[in-house]
Amino acid sequence: MNEEQRKQSSINILDERDKKAEKETKDYSKYFEHVYQPPSLKEAKKRGKQSVQYNDDFKIEEKYRNMGLGRTFLIKTYGCQMNAHDTEVMAGILSALGYQATDDINTADVILINTCAIRENAENKVFSEIGNLKHLKRERPDALIGVCGCMSQEESVVNKILKSYQNVDMIFGTHNIHRLPAILEEAYLSKAMVVEVWSKEGDVVENLPKVRAGNIKAWVNIMYGCDKFCTYCIVPFTRGKERSRRPEDIIEEVRGLAREGYQEITLLGQNVNSYGKDIEGIDYGLGDLLEDISKIDIPRVRFTTSHPWDFTDRMIDIIAKGGNIVPHIHLPVQSGNDAVLKIMGRKYTRESYLELVNKIKTAIPDIALTTDIIVGYPNETEAQFEETLSLYDEVEFEHAYTYIYSQRDGTPAAKMKDNVPQDVKKARLQALNKKVSYYSERAMSKYEGEIVQVLCEGTSKRDDTVLSGYTDKNKLVNFKAPKSMIGKIVDVKIDEAKQYSLNGTFVQQTQKTVVMP
Ligand code: SAH
Ligand code: SF4
Ligand code: F3S
Repeated sequence: MNEEQRKQSSINILDERDKKAEKETKDYSKYFEHVYQPPSLKEAKKRGKQSVQYNDDFKIEEKYRNMGLGRTFLIKTYGCQMNAHDTEVMAGILSALGYQATDDINTADVILINTCAIRENAENKVFSEIGNLKHLKRERPDALIGVCGCMSQEESVVNKILKSYQNVDMIFGTHNIHRLPAILEEAYLSKAMVVEVWSKEGDVVENLPKVRAGNIKAWVNIMYGCDKFCTYCIVPFTRGKERSRRPEDIIEEVRGLAREGYQEITLLGQNVNSYGKDIEGIDYGLGDLLEDISKIDIPRVRFTTSHPWDFTDRMIDIIAKGGNIVPHIHLPVQSGNDAVLKIMGRKYTRESYLELVNKIKTAIPDIALTTDIIVGYPNETEAQFEETLSLYDEVEFEHAYTYIYSQRDGTPAAKMKDNVPQDVKKARLQALNKKVSYYSERAMSKYEGEIVQVLCEGTSKRDDTVLSGYTDKNKLVNFKAPKSMIGKIVDVKIDEAKQYSLNGTFVQQTQKTVVMP
């Protein structure tokens, strides 16, 4: 190539680049003009006075019914049970549109990433996942990639995706899952990224279709959102204000699950203890709901998560009656030091937490208590951290989920100066985890020689001649038994306790599973 040709060729390349850049800018501005509805954490923080509207009219419009025929979908789920359950609803909607589920990401026609915003590392995982899908979009431009869940509610995340992840076709939030058919249609028709995120929560939408992940255990949402605004937490921003479902809708759903043969349900909410407070005209709380559900013939009922602040005596009484409400309470404490609890905005003290624990233990002597703890809160001192350790010793939790504090943009704690170095935080987490392991192992070892009731869920991951399942206190048990026991509650004699699981010998199918209170 001579000098002239070389010059011409580089002009061509530059031309191409310019054209591409011009097109991209045009496309990008198009999002803002037509499609892009930016979420706003500031808006999301506002709590209006208007009461919750219940939408009972959800149905799949006729025009969307065949949208998914001959197409497949895959949903990757991060985060908590709330997200896992939202995934079941999205799978329900997609199935109603005619899509088939697949496990193969390389052939899926719709790929949804249901994201979690709770800590920075949760978000990083999602970004690397979306990055990994870039090649897939190049090879199969017709495949649709969607980002949904809690990260979609953050403006910084939406802007980052718009700027750097052009392989994404749609972003939608936690409040408009029911709009999935319309969002998909727009994504098929539009070349630009479809962004539909509502900063303010909408109605409580009933009658959404669901494809549940299993036929033994089921999630049941009893409320959405959170108004607690713990200073570190992004959830009140990503999930909106507290909205309770009507008792009759919940009870009907649970009755339906009982009829279908489900053995266990978990009632879900970010703070289930607030259940019912927002429903006008009735005086009905979680205690009442638990009492009504305890009359339904379903062997096990769990609920999560309980904020220690508004755990009522009524609730303790109902759990103490036994019946189908399991003797396991997850009661996140976060810290054992009053000053830290205060700046966390948790609204209880070490003393009042311990009082509640004592009350629970007195009323329900065989209760299993588990918790969540954050270490390395901004400016947490060594002495304050030691108080978390000593609280752990006092309560003797059977297990804990432990985290290093992660700064979340838009939360009050993000403005706090933090003088605790990362390696100190890591060392605290390690010290705490040592304690957690010690008490978990101790709790497990108590079962050796005992007979426990296990809800048998399937074969063990490692050995398919071994069945596995959980006790009412959520201990994993492995044992050999006929496969016909899957889905049943069985008696198992524990032979060996390990750190996170128990090994045992099958005795028989449990004779009596529900004791009516
Ligand atoms: N609604 C539940 C908690 C949901 S988030 C409750 O209040 O109990 C689950 C756990 O994640 C929290 O209990 C807390 O321990 C942890 N967490 C939340 N925000 C965090 C943050 N910014 N950094 C570290 N851990 C956090
Ligand atoms: Fe977050 Fe606190 Fe609400 Fe739990 S109660 S979701 S920690 S704000
Ligand atoms: Fe994560 Fe949202 Fe749950 S931030 S923990 S998925 S409510």
